[in-house]
Amino acid sequence: MGKVTMMLAIALVILHLVSRCRGGVTSSYRRKLEASVDMPLNSDVFRRPPGYNAPEQVHITQGDYVGRGVIVSWVTPVEPGSDLVLYGPASNKSKYQAHARLTTYKFGNYTSGYIHHCKLKNLDYNTLYYYRVGIGNSSREFSFTTPPEVGPDVPYTFGIIGDLGQTFDSNQTLGHYASNELAKALLFVGDLSYADHYPLHDNRRWDSWGRFVERVAAYQPWILTAGNHEIDTVPEIHETTPFKPYIHRYHAPFKASGSTSPLWYSIKRASAHIIVLSSYSAYAKYTPQYEWLQNEFTKVNRSETPWLIVLVHSPWYNSNNYHYMEGETMRVIFESWFVQNKVDLVFSGHVHAYERSERISNIAYNITNKECTPIPDPSAPVYITIGDGGNIEGLANNFTEPQPNYSAYREASFGHATLEIKNRTHAYYSWHRNSDGIKEVGDSAWIYNRYWRPDE
Ligand SMILES: *[C@@H]1O[C@H](CO)[C@@H](O)[C@H](O)[C@H]1NC(C)=O
Ligand SMILES: *[C@@H]1O[C@H](CO)[C@@H](O)[C@H](O)[C@H]1NC(C)=O
Ligand SMILES: *[C@@H]1O[C@H](CO)[C@@H](O)[C@H](O)[C@H]1NC(C)=O
Ligand SMILES: *[C@@H]1O[C@H](CO)[C@@H](O)[C@H](O)[C@H]1NC(C)=O
Ligand SMILES: *[C@@H]1O[C@H](CO)[C@@H](O)[C@H](O)[C@H]1NC(C)=O
Ligand SMILES: *[C@@H]1O[C@H](CO)[C@@H](O)[C@H](O)[C@H]1NC(C)=O
Ligand SMILES: *[C@@H]1O[C@H](CO)[C@@H](O)[C@H](O)[C@H]1NC(C)=O
Ligand SMILES: *[C@@H]1O[C@H](CO)[C@@H](O)[C@H](O)[C@H]1NC(C)=O
Ligand SMILES: *[C@@H]1O[C@H](CO)[C@@H](O)[C@H](O)[C@H]1NC(C)=O
Ligand SMILES: [Fe+2]
Repeated sequence: MGKVTMMLAIALVILHLVSRCRGGVTSSYRRKLEASVDMPLNSDVFRRPPGYNAPEQVHITQGDYVGRGVIVSWVTPVEPGSDLVLYGPASNKSKYQAHARLTTYKFGNYTSGYIHHCKLKNLDYNTLYYYRVGIGNSSREFSFTTPPEVGPDVPYTFGIIGDLGQTFDSNQTLGHYASNELAKALLFVGDLSYADHYPLHDNRRWDSWGRFVERVAAYQPWILTAGNHEIDTVPEIHETTPFKPYIHRYHAPFKASGSTSPLWYSIKRASAHIIVLSSYSAYAKYTPQYEWLQNEFTKVNRSETPWLIVLVHSPWYNSNNYHYMEGETMRVIFESWFVQNKVDLVFSGHVHAYERSERISNIAYNITNKECTPIPDPSAPVYITIGDGGNIEGLANNFTEPQPNYSAYREASFGHATLEIKNRTHAYYSWHRNSDGIKEVGDSAWIYNRYWRPDE
């Protein structure tokens, strides 16, 4: 054999091996592993707005089932102050007004500021609104754009962030997200402030987190999921009610979707039906969450909202050694419903790394038949773990080896993602890693709708 022919033969063998190996990718990108430290309390991002009793920690979320409502929330530090929200379109920014409800809470020897939640209703679709909170020289103005009317071919782009915290890395993630002009609403998959990292869950770190994220959260709705760092129980100081700070500070339109708890609910937005679940509330048969979800699936209409998306903190498919199989009990209970109802995407956090799965299911097992391997399933969702916002616990840089064949892509870096829904059949998904100061695309994929394009 001539030398050239031999090299060609070797090249062909290598090519053959590469094309046969259809397993997932473990990214070779290695981020410098440094300690993740919280930004000090006197950092620029935590600065209080000027003026006596000025509203701070301003944030919004969807306020109804279909996108014509917005909940505006803020905190005043010294006294209740005004409960008024003035809002309107550019032509008359104070055309309408609404009154907020006030709440406060104590946590050990911490007393919260005055927390206001105000529901703006019957807004026009696809409209830029300005809103103002506070009074006189301490008042502050923000704006948001309502989504288009719910419909099957309405393009819309969601951002996705999880496990954000308040470190220097968190600040990079938020900065990159803010510079990504595509995303119009954020799907947040749990673990917000990590205040529970501090002795007795120092709740001042809930306040600093609220001030930190305001530069994004005041302008576009954050659709929140509760994570384990929202549980916040400290029996030593008799704080035994789970989710107390979270539920006081962050409201959700749960009643609009027939839920009895702000920890699980759903919304429709543009062409998506989004279901938010709670990994840390009861979900076995006969529990409120179980019964609510069973009923919620019957309300999903893919002719109206083709895209069915679930947010849940603890991932069901995760090939990282951190938190391995913690989502297993919920998977066993709900996975067959996800397959029957052809859920398109499931976003989770919890594991501080990034991973995307193949479309797989593991629902055949019945105790005796040994069928307990995840198998390719065209009716199953893609599972995305994106707990890589950048919190104080650092990266989860220890994947199981070899990479299981259900895992399509995995990488231990911080970042955020966007889901660009184009129409009822196509959505473009991309994950943007924080590459030491800049953002770059680490992983991307076209997602074909399970109802309208099940063959792809
Ligand atoms: C704005 O709307 C308010 C309330 O309807 C009204 O009193 C006011 O005159 C309007 N201002 C302008 C400039 O149209
Ligand atoms: C609150 O409790 C912590 C821990 O016991 C203590 O260090 C701090 O001084 C207390 N603060 C007040 C205002 O009592
Ligand atoms: C803000 O208004 C208050 C009361 O109206 C006044 O006492 C204060 O001097 C004003 N502050 C500034 C910075 O204008
Ligand atoms: C956080 O990031 C912003 C830019 O997105 C920057 O202006 C600010 O100085 C940063 N703060 C800290 C404490 O790193
Ligand atoms: C589903 O939505 C379509 C389009 O809006 C509507 O025509 C149809 O009646 C709905 N189906 C049900 C069962 O509500
Ligand atoms: C479990 O699956 C096996 C094989 O599919 C079947 O023969 C058996 O009846 C099943 N057991 C139960 C309890 O459904
Ligand atoms: C992974 O490999 C197992 C065993 O070879 C196979 O049964 C299964 O279908 C594969 N799963 C995927 C998602 O390819
Ligand atoms: C990675 O996780 C495995 C399983 O928990 C453990 O045995 C191993 O020591 C870990 N490796 C490192 C470098 O932490
Ligand atoms: C849906 O969007 C995809 C991607 O932009 C495009 O290729 C396709 O033609 C669109 N489908 C329809 C029916 O417009
Ligand atoms: Fe978590």
